[in-house]
Amino acid sequence: MTGKLTVIVGPMYSGKTSELLSLIEIYTLGKKNYLVFKPAIDVRYSEEHIVSHTGLKAPAIRVSDSIELFEIFKEKQGSLDAVFIDEIHFFEADIIQVIEKIIYSGVNVFCVGLDMSYKHRPFITTAQIMGIADEVIKKKAVCHICGEYKAVVSYRKVEETDSEIDVGGMEKYIAVCRDCYSKLTGKFKQ
Ligand code: ADP
Ligand code: TMP
Ligand code: MG
Ligand code: ZN
Repeated sequence: MTGKLTVIVGPMYSGKTSELLSLIEIYTLGKKNYLVFKPAIDVRYSEEHIVSHTGLKAPAIRVSDSIELFEIFKEKQGSLDAVFIDEIHFFEADIIQVIEKIIYSGVNVFCVGLDMSYKHRPFITTAQIMGIADEVIKKKAVCHICGEYKAVVSYRKVEETDSEIDVGGMEKYIAVCRDCYSKLTGKFKQ
């Protein structure tokens, strides 16, 4: 039987990593075999763990790209029930072919990542994985400006750069609703 692909997306602070950690706990309690991956670029809280903004964590393997991820997967192939990947937006879109190989080998894959950059543009890798997923869970955060539980965008507090890739936390980004994003940036004014 093939595996299932679940994708968890949303802005920063929307509980994506927390949800991934809950799923990892379920697999741990069920004595299942799994691998947890994170991109090498993510050194925000730890190099060897995935870590939520509340400090909860789980050991993870840092990989520089999808080729390295697949090499490690192949070493364990046959004994695995699931693969968990945090910060999927940091991977190149070619990770999709690797994810397809993993699910068609009978292993469940859970991917977590930002759907949108602070520039309000879709992250291509996340968008493409959402397109082939069995299940997409889209989460919200509390808007840092108005306090409503409807934040769907991450707003960059510090000066914008050309790049949409920049590791960071509260010192750089807040979660905001569309109304507050539009007011803060002046974008999308009618
Ligand atoms: P993500 O991986 O989506 O960035 P995490 O799972 O790491 O999110 O962190 C979620 C936690 O962040 C929440 O449980 C809460 O304690 C904290 N948090 C901080 N700011 C906010 C916010 N604006 N809205 C919701 N949760 C927030
Ligand atoms: P988080 O969703 O677990 O909070 O982590 C998101 C990571 O992505 C964090 O390191 C900041 C980074 N990031 C970007 O690189 N570009 C962006 O546009 C945004 C919003 C975040
Ligand atoms: Mg996270
Ligand atoms: Zn708001």
